[in-house]
Amino acid sequence: MSLEKLFIKHKSDKFRHNYHEIYDPFLNKIKNKRLNILEIGVSDGASIKAWSEYFKKSVIVGIDIKKIDLKKKNLNRKNIHIYQGSQSDNVFINFIINKYKKFDIIIDDGSHYPADVIRSFKLLFKSLSLKGLYFIEDTQTSYNHFFGGNPFDLKYSNTQINFFKNLADKINYKEIANPFKSKSVYDGLIKSVSFFHNMIVIRKDINNIESNLVLNNSYENKRFLTKLKRNPEKKFQYFLKYKIIFKLYTLTLYLFNLLKKIILLRF
Ligand SMILES: C[S@@+](CC[C@H](N)C(=O)[O-])C[C@H]1O[C@@H](n2cnc3c(N)ncnc32)[C@H](O)[C@@H]1O
Repeated sequence: MSLEKLFIKHKSDKFRHNYHEIYDPFLNKIKNKRLNILEIGVSDGASIKAWSEYFKKSVIVGIDIKKIDLKKKNLNRKNIHIYQGSQSDNVFINFIINKYKKFDIIIDDGSHYPADVIRSFKLLFKSLSLKGLYFIEDTQTSYNHFFGGNPFDLKYSNTQINFFKNLADKINYKEIANPFKSKSVYDGLIKSVSFFHNMIVIRKDINNIESNLVLNNSYENKRFLTKLKRNPEKKFQYFLKYKIIFKLYTLTLYLFNLLKKIILLRF
């Protein structure tokens, strides 16, 4: 049965949001594999039941801050495992990670509060398999101050939309021509970040393609080595140009931007 029909069959509001149109292209090729799937937010169990029928060979783990009555909600199925706890509780999330080790798919349909969404992603990222997918639903809360979002400062507020906009920079972490750039746990592991209406999808995978412009985050070093290979006799001239003048220019811009960040309190 299609995901759309399963969402209708189990009365999941994912159908009302048209989320099947986003999920299906990511999931239909892997639905017959043996996967570990985690969904944050169980409620009546509508989506958990739909997932358990869509991914017939997989284990579906559901977590919810509220106690879920498995009998009443008809969730006593072999491939459904339910736990009570908060998505932002470090101890609880690590207990789940220790039990299942890796998840191939993680779906955040929990509180939808920006702080919870960001914290869960940070806690769970290590447990997401390579080639794994992380779905975040109802990201419209980013734009609503009654749900912890900020509709008045779309660029610099601590919302999940801004967190994942910034995560998109990790896709091109090797291209950033800033030799002072600090390392991030996400460098080399973010293959894509996709934005849809009210939904974000992250694909984790090895991403270590070398830049054609930059070497170890330095344009100067890359240019110096490339030029030197072609004309080794011009070493001094290239050294002066790339290692002194270009580096001074980079350092000046770096300091200017650092000052700008401090003055505008943008970290
Ligand atoms: C939108 S409902 C989930 C709907 C379900 N995924 C479906 O599609 O049928 C959100 C659920 O998240 C749970 N929730 C809220 N805050 C949470 C938190 N901090 N940690 C875990 N679950 C939470 C709520 O108790 C509620 O059951």
